[in-house]
Amino acid sequence: MRKKRRIGHMKITVCIGSSCHIKGSRPVVEQLQTLIAENDLGDRIELGGTFCMGKCQQGVCVTVDGALFSVSPENVKEFFRDHVKAKLA
Ligand code: FES
Repeated sequence: MRKKRRIGHMKITVCIGSSCHIKGSRPVVEQLQTLIAENDLGDRIELGGTFCMGKCQQGVCVTVDGALFSVSPENVKEFFRDHVKAKLA
């Protein structure tokens, strides 16, 4: 039997491979941590890192429950609003 996902719970994974790192994975992670804290979503979002996903050209690569997004330090706020907060609302 498949394990049920907790309702309203989300897993965000940020690539910290070298190519994504150069494109700003560290500030992306830091901004996500701040946004999660500001929105009081720490108990609903699991934020983690992963090594190269093999999609370096699309970096910074971020997955939300397995779906891949191309995020940058410049658009991380919009990404969070549209693809994280909106889905948890
Ligand atoms: S370094 Fe992030 S996908 Fe390769």
